[in-house]
Amino acid sequence: MANMKKTILIAAISLAVTATASAADVVKATVHADQAGAKINREIYGQFSEHLGTCIYGGLWVGEDSKIPNIMGYRKDVFEALKALKVPVLRWPGGCFADDYHWMDGIGPKDQRPSLRNNNWGGTIEDNSFGTHEFLNLCEMLDCEPYISGNVGSGTVKEMAQWVEYMTSDGDTPMARLRRQNGREKAWHVKYFGIGNEAWGCGGNMTPEYYSDEFRKFNTYLRDYTGNQLYRIGSGASDYDYKWTEVLMDKIGNRMQGVSLHYYTCSGWDGPKGSATKFDNDQYYWALGKCLEIEEVIKKHKAIMDEKDPQGKVGLLVDEWGTWWDEEPGTVSGHLFQQNALRDAFVASLSLNVFHKYTDRVKMANIAQVVNVLQAMILTDQKGTGHMVLTPTYHVFKMYTPFQEATFLPVDLPTETMQVSKAYFKEKEGAKDAGYRPCPMLSASAAKTTDDGLVLAITNVSLDKDQTIDFQLAGYQAKTVSGEILTSKKVDDYNDFQHPETVVPKAFKDAKLKQNVVSVKVPAKSIVVLNIR
Ligand code: AHR
Repeated sequence: MANMKKTILIAAISLAVTATASAADVVKATVHADQAGAKINREIYGQFSEHLGTCIYGGLWVGEDSKIPNIMGYRKDVFEALKALKVPVLRWPGGCFADDYHWMDGIGPKDQRPSLRNNNWGGTIEDNSFGTHEFLNLCEMLDCEPYISGNVGSGTVKEMAQWVEYMTSDGDTPMARLRRQNGREKAWHVKYFGIGNEAWGCGGNMTPEYYSDEFRKFNTYLRDYTGNQLYRIGSGASDYDYKWTEVLMDKIGNRMQGVSLHYYTCSGWDGPKGSATKFDNDQYYWALGKCLEIEEVIKKHKAIMDEKDPQGKVGLLVDEWGTWWDEEPGTVSGHLFQQNALRDAFVASLSLNVFHKYTDRVKMANIAQVVNVLQAMILTDQKGTGHMVLTPTYHVFKMYTPFQEATFLPVDLPTETMQVSKAYFKEKEGAKDAGYRPCPMLSASAAKTTDDGLVLAITNVSLDKDQTIDFQLAGYQAKTVSGEILTSKKVDDYNDFQHPETVVPKAFKDAKLKQNVVSVKVPAKSIVVLNIR
């Protein structure tokens, strides 16, 4: 029976599953340390902060006078949690907000800053108390690269050019003088600069041809001041819009160093998106199939880029990704506050595995968003009690930190693959004929760490099948293995302010090393990250 193909029926979805399994049901896998690939850009672990809901106010920032413990206005607990995550890059101020944002409103004495209505996100009044200084100082404290999204949609070329000068000029220039008047002597270091956001939608509803011309015009006036070189990012495609990438690559080409891509695990843009915490098994598998489809999407955008830029000079930056569910009942409409279950942890793990694989082109990814919005790392109590909770997604990012700057290694891992419906809501019109997506039960990603260890992440998304996997280590001599596991009783388990530790990583004891084979018992619905030396 060894390595015989067999077909198994999986109850929840009742669809054919093909599998390769040995008699003892031990999966034989190989980590190819002898076939090292590219370095995994640490920016793949990037975060996104937007003036949306309570991401900034109540999330990152409470102000110096708050009763909630803070460091110069930054929420202390949130700051410390992010520091532990080794955030490499933080995007700001949007999102859609970026094309409504006028940076000069967010500098100078706070009581003189004008307010504005946040038109995209619930009409909330924004008082501009968190602006350029507050953001760039936070990045310095976190030791991460800032990524600024400039306003093309409703801004001017002059406004954007002056913003770059304000942040990065150290000379005796008008904007540098204004910055000094506002209390900051030295220029900040700003590498990543986005010229617009979602120019095809909230960023101006442009055609790719028109946007490309706009990019070229705005870009002309963004100067590299002494000691600072901008990495210029074009506002790229959404999901399956390959034409957008094609036109930008043709018309902007090497004038940009990166082009963005937005891909959400979302059941659709109209009508309900489904609850973050109440879902059935079909909806669970749907999310994994949909998130994994990002691989096809990346491959197709990459193929266009490979053809037009064979030297790989332009990076593909997935600068918005993650799950998008219904807002939590009782929260402010338009604030996109959602819970985060073990299901979301799987979406994080599987997506990061894909980004690792395409790291030669995927130079950055920014999950949306860092606090209190969509697939957040951290949730703070919306009632202002000062409580904070780390989400299952946070724990995945934390467990995966050894992948930052490690060298990608291919893994051969045979697995059962389930075909899952493309329809999230079975009762929706047309759902029956929506088609299917593949969802492998097992996934893995491996890399050689900067200190010569191996890191191996294994994701078993099956709801009911534990797996024993023997990993042969080709080209690496191992002496020890240790690790952590993230799992829970139910896949819809989550952490809340009353139960902050329902889904937390635990030490993992079921990995044994024998004759250079790491034998791992991976329970159903779990993520295991091993450190091998
Ligand atoms: O992340 C929420 C929104 O999704 C962003 O503001 C926008 O860029 C995208 O449509």
